[in-house]
Amino acid sequence: MPVDLNNALPLAWDSATLDADTKAMLDNLQPNIVRSHVREHLSVLFVRFNDMAEGRAYLRRLATTKMKSARKHLQEVRDFATGRRRGTPYVGVGISKAGYRDLGHSVEDVRKFGDKVFRDGMKRRIAEVADPPVDQWERVYQREIHAVILIGDAEQETVTALRDEIVGDLPESARLLGEETGQGMRNPAGDGIEHFGYVDGRSQPLFVRDEVDKEPKQHWNPAFPLSNVLVPDPFSPDPDRHHGSYLVFRKLEQNVRAFKEIEQELADGLGLTGSDRDRAGAMLVGRFKDGTPLTSKRTAGGGPVSNDFTFDADTGSKCPFSGHIRKTNPRSFGRDVLMARRGQTYGERTDEPWDDSPPASRPSGEVGLLFMAFNGSLVRQFEFTQQQWVNNADFENPATGHDPVIGQGDRDIKVSFPKVWGKPEVSLPQGQVPQTVTMKGGEYFFAPSLAYLRNL
Ligand code: HEM
Repeated sequence: MPVDLNNALPLAWDSATLDADTKAMLDNLQPNIVRSHVREHLSVLFVRFNDMAEGRAYLRRLATTKMKSARKHLQEVRDFATGRRRGTPYVGVGISKAGYRDLGHSVEDVRKFGDKVFRDGMKRRIAEVADPPVDQWERVYQREIHAVILIGDAEQETVTALRDEIVGDLPESARLLGEETGQGMRNPAGDGIEHFGYVDGRSQPLFVRDEVDKEPKQHWNPAFPLSNVLVPDPFSPDPDRHHGSYLVFRKLEQNVRAFKEIEQELADGLGLTGSDRDRAGAMLVGRFKDGTPLTSKRTAGGGPVSNDFTFDADTGSKCPFSGHIRKTNPRSFGRDVLMARRGQTYGERTDEPWDDSPPASRPSGEVGLLFMAFNGSLVRQFEFTQQQWVNNADFENPATGHDPVIGQGDRDIKVSFPKVWGKPEVSLPQGQVPQTVTMKGGEYFFAPSLAYLRNL
């Protein structure tokens, strides 16, 4: 029987009564899709094969010697939590449409991928998502990338050693086109943050029972069906039981200095004083720096980072409709649009991203987010989010503006901000805040089943 990807019940992966098909699915699925894998240190390799047989043999070796299954990962997380032992590193693989062709799949064959956006590749989609022209991307992304290899662990030494082995094993015919290094950042509370200094990665669609059980669920149901991230792997030996996921990779550079100046200008412009000044940045992101949702509270603080909320009682006087988390997850609809975000920050900092140092001490480039997300459909999820929600100034309500964090395209309309939290009084219409995140390149990949890779 095919695994029912639309089942809304979270995966009870360790249940004695787990059916054989779901077990086979988890034994053949890459980790980091249905549950996030530790990747505090991350190496991202971009490879081109150039020889079909050697490329296939390389990936087969990688899968059989270095990659573990999603089920093994879930077991490792359980073992770690019970204090038994640390888990093993993560190795993941994504193949682009050009990669599938180079590995010997015909154009006809590649049509078996239902997702048109994947079949196009990212370079052909710039108009749809308002990306910069390809000749402005970093060199590596201008080239034809066949595969991405992700190597993640809690320790840098482990990642470096594994990266060297994996690169060293590349056949003569293959090229390492380029690589990125990701490195997690944390605030003093220990929560993961991004370069603007805000807690990131808190809200995710959850698929596994252990994770769902830990969440409060009074307002927001964090459990999602597997269809948000999985599709049958068309080239696997048994697509009913072997699954993969569409992986979007985008290198997003952040101009932190400009963002910090914008926060201050907005606070000044609205006349915000004292601790209320932090509300300026929170209106752009939708959460305060410590992760407190702006729709729930007028100030930051007060316990663990909440994800149990909706925007139902908020007409935009608390969290503006344009706020990044409101744009990317309106919560009262669009659940099938949510992706599993698995990115990592990149770039070295000498300052502390979470403190109140002046903007002049902040980096204006060379740092950012290696945005990665797993999708059941790039059309319905990543591209839809970027195109219809984030870049759309009229989403949900007319003239509410682009997503100030990741919106792309002309920000030509004027917008207003609430002056007092929860009160109807708004500022005079003003120009939207300038764009501070720049897309430097990327690609769409498919993370195939282990069964496919082992059978190459
Ligand atoms: C959430 C920052 C790019 C989609 C968040 C949060 C932050 C953040 C601080 C709040 C933490 C959380 O709720 O988990 C950024 C920055 C980006 C970036 C700085 C670029 C440099 C993107 C992109 C997308 C995206 C490209 C998709 C097109 C989301 C989604 C959420 C989120 C879906 C969760 C919303 C929710 O469920 O409440 N982001 N993000 N982000 N972001 Fe981003």
